[in-house]
Amino acid sequence: MSNNHAWWQTNIIYQIYPRSYQDSNSDGIGDLPGIRQRLDYLQSLNVGAIWLSPINPSPMHDFGYDVADYRDVHPLFGTLADFDRLLEGVHARGMKLILDLVPNHTSDEHVWFQESRSSRDNPKRDWYIWQDPAPDGGPPNNWTSFFGGPAWTLDERTGQYYLHQFVKQQPELNYRNPAVMQAMLDQMRFWLDRGVDGFRVDVIWLMIKDELLRDEPDDPAWDGVTPHARLQHIYTADQPEVHDLIRQMRALLDAYDDRMMVGEIYLPNQQLMTYYGAAFDEVHLPFNFQLILAPWEARAVRRLVDQYEVDLPAGGWPNWVLGNHDQHRVATRVGAAQARVANMLLLTLRGTPTCYYGDELGMEDVPIPPEFVQDPPAVNQPEIAHIVGRDPERTPMQWDASPNAGFAAPGVQTWLPLSDDYAQINVAVQSQEPRSMLAFYRALSALRRDSPALSIGAYQSIDTGVENIFAYTRTHADERVLILLNFAATTHRLDLSRLGSEAEILLSTGMESTGKIRLRALYIVGNEGIVLRLP
Ligand code: GLC
Repeated sequence: MSNNHAWWQTNIIYQIYPRSYQDSNSDGIGDLPGIRQRLDYLQSLNVGAIWLSPINPSPMHDFGYDVADYRDVHPLFGTLADFDRLLEGVHARGMKLILDLVPNHTSDEHVWFQESRSSRDNPKRDWYIWQDPAPDGGPPNNWTSFFGGPAWTLDERTGQYYLHQFVKQQPELNYRNPAVMQAMLDQMRFWLDRGVDGFRVDVIWLMIKDELLRDEPDDPAWDGVTPHARLQHIYTADQPEVHDLIRQMRALLDAYDDRMMVGEIYLPNQQLMTYYGAAFDEVHLPFNFQLILAPWEARAVRRLVDQYEVDLPAGGWPNWVLGNHDQHRVATRVGAAQARVANMLLLTLRGTPTCYYGDELGMEDVPIPPEFVQDPPAVNQPEIAHIVGRDPERTPMQWDASPNAGFAAPGVQTWLPLSDDYAQINVAVQSQEPRSMLAFYRALSALRRDSPALSIGAYQSIDTGVENIFAYTRTHADERVLILLNFAATTHRLDLSRLGSEAEILLSTGMESTGKIRLRALYIVGNEGIVLRLP
């Protein structure tokens, strides 16, 4: 592609949830040797970078996002030697490997917290956020956990509360103590020295809290559903001091060759964009989750894409995400008929796309029977489990039609149930069908890889006069590509003769149409997306 673009700009990032990708040792949980067995498959998707959700030792209260040791691999997933072999295999295929880094909190089993909680005068006491009880003995303020209940737990032994915005086994580190950042940088160095190409940084926008620990006000816009959304998180999130922390992490990355970080940040554009850093000295990419959060409607999506392009600081590189391990799957959110349109959007917008494992097959959320529910927000809040539970999007990858879908050996109890439809929706079946979702995904990702306009070209939305169609061009040098996406189930006729007389179909979601098409009377059928080369 263009040699002045970095690998994290031109490549697709593919997220693997390691527990659910490939089990190689018949314990029903995916592992690193399993992922290594699937590297040829990953290469066949034309993805250039793989992001692994946490693989560190963890008591798994939040499925690995509660790290007990940043410098090792959980035995469930393998060993450091397995990790090195995986990394070698990834690099041998010209791909990159991104690890999840969870700096905001540790597991309560991390040795730092064990020391911190041991006494009020332990040297690591203020590595975490400890507070005396309120005068009535209750929590020090009104902050709440994302997973339900207060964000404070009383530690009987020393009579103080500690802060946790997730489960109580995830105490939050105190970044007002500079020693904590030094320690976290050491953990990063460990993996950078081993050769990892970057980090996806968990809840980076929460890393530092209001120094005065002030109560948060009620949110007048609260929809009455999730208790955590009842408050406006003006003191637990997006504090001004966070930027200095991120600059320190970035400076470390910049001391190495060609490494990157992408930050998990759920914020509106104005605040989100500040995370690039005033001198582009913070995250390389602040995750842009708007396609997940917006209504699936052509005008709304056009508006948000146009606005994002406007709000992006000059020189900032965009990125788009359709799904991750915290969100209902895209095929479930927008419906199976629109899943191809959604992926065509993701892979033809300007900026780095992030794809969640299984979305290339059209995998959907899997309903989890109550006795199998494991995810803490669902377990803690059973009344809203169907909204906040994340097990449905974390089910095993569907490789083939054999019992356990090729994810685990037949007869093994998998950690989450498989989808009922795995005999049809799987890699083996879809690899045989020339027009399957998987075949479509491979064609689309190859098209993107081979087209400078799609990889790095300029973006411009265009009016078609039809409200269900989102249309835009991508342009680089003399290559002009037109993308038409029909968000509705109805056929539309468009007159786009102002763009030329004829165009060549490069790919359509149905993979049936090929050849030239007249722009004066162009038909786009329901749920169709078309990528065209303009003259
Ligand atoms: C992030 C992760 C999520 C986890 C939380 C706490 O949002 O993506 O899975 O539960 O942080 O670490």
